[in-house]
Amino acid sequence: MVIEQAELLGIKQRFGIIGNSSRLNYALTVAAQVAPTDMTVLITGESGSGKESFSKIIHHLSPRKHGQFIAINCGAIPEGTIDSELFGHEKGAFTGAQEARKGYFEVTNGGTIFLDEVGEMPFGTQARLLRVLEYGEFIKVGSSKVQKTDVRVVAATNVNLLDAVNNGKFREDLYYRLSQVPITVPPLRERGNDIELLFRKFAIDFSERYHRKPIQLTPEAKEILLKYRFPGNIRELKNLVDRMSVMLNDRQIDGETLLEFLPQERPSLPTLYNRLGDQNNFSERDLLYKVLFEMRHDLNELKKLVHQVLQNENYGNHIIEQHQDLFNNLKDDISKQEESLESRYDSGPYFLNTKSKVGDISKESDNTYDLENIEDITLEAETSDDLSLEKKEKELIVKALKKNGNKRKYAARDLGISERTLYRKIKQYEID
Ligand SMILES: Nc1ncnc2c1ncn2[C@@H]1O[C@H](COP(=O)(O)OP(=O)(O)OP(=O)(O)O)[C@@H](O)[C@H]1O
Ligand SMILES: [Mg+2]
Repeated sequence: MVIEQAELLGIKQRFGIIGNSSRLNYALTVAAQVAPTDMTVLITGESGSGKESFSKIIHHLSPRKHGQFIAINCGAIPEGTIDSELFGHEKGAFTGAQEARKGYFEVTNGGTIFLDEVGEMPFGTQARLLRVLEYGEFIKVGSSKVQKTDVRVVAATNVNLLDAVNNGKFREDLYYRLSQVPITVPPLRERGNDIELLFRKFAIDFSERYHRKPIQLTPEAKEILLKYRFPGNIRELKNLVDRMSVMLNDRQIDGETLLEFLPQERPSLPTLYNRLGDQNNFSERDLLYKVLFEMRHDLNELKKLVHQVLQNENYGNHIIEQHQDLFNNLKDDISKQEESLESRYDSGPYFLNTKSKVGDISKESDNTYDLENIEDITLEAETSDDLSLEKKEKELIVKALKKNGNKRKYAARDLGISERTLYRKIKQYEID
């Protein structure tokens, strides 16, 4: 099927898609071409680049347009319930399953399911998804009866799924099955003049909403805007125009004013800074806490793992005996680790000047060591310490949630953790 220019224009108007860059046009053309088929589409693109808009276009241009369209964020559903959400469960399938429930694949029969952030789907669920894609079959949790359904799947990801395949986190067979038709949504920074078109469109939209004249850019400001990287893509541009439309009295925006609204680039802590620091709401101290917390967690996890492996291998106990210090003095290690980190940053420009009291814990160290002890030690260390990293982590989470209007997805992104991890931590820290 050939998509004519006029048809492409019609699609843009109907779905409110602004832009004329060749990569956007190509992606839209592919979407329009595959829409009438039942082929599975994998949409790849950075956050805020418009992936969800593409999934809607595909559904509404398909013969399934009168059927249901359901968008599911695979990263937001807890691992324990995702199978039941997608495929349903029988009464009594697990504790709390008082009634049988239909899953999305059953209720969307004849329609389209959009699986957003499909890379976050747990491994076990991936096998169920593969079956429904290959044979149109699924089995409810707690049932043995095979059921049929006719659902078209459009999936999206903002991570490189092939990396996930190589890391053993995503099934290779599912990857190829999902990407029957791959569509790449280009990042805004690579759409050239589309940036200006979008700016103008959003400026008009917000002028109508706030009953003010639309904001405009001076040539110098325009140049700055076109060079900006837009890590948050169209969503970021829209928010920027929204903020400037509300806050500026002068409707003519020069370069200097625009720069005040753009996040500052800073040379230190480059990776984390891009993820967190550019939001202005997180201090370097917050960032360092985050790094420390992750490091300590990783180290403890490693120790547990090594101990477990050694215990399970025949030669392991021998090695444990040879390295008694490492395992017997684990409590010392944890407190020393924290002390050394503290002193390392004590005199630094950003860090703490209060003394930690975790050293006391080492006195309680005994010579017998078992895995359960590690948990105890960790807990003890965290609760008896005024500067507990856990407390700081909780603060960071609350801060990120506040900043993002309680939207977990964006808070998780700011924190550099998955939405599922954030969900778990909110529960763990009992955050409202
Ligand atoms: N070409 C476009 N023209 C106008 N608005 C657009 C365009 N593409 C996307 N948008 C708007 O930008 C916002 C972000 O788009 P969308 O939610 O589809 O992004 P996404 O890629 O799904 O992001 P995420 O990965 O964060 O879920 C939405 O408000 C959408 O309507
Ligand atoms: Mg999306």
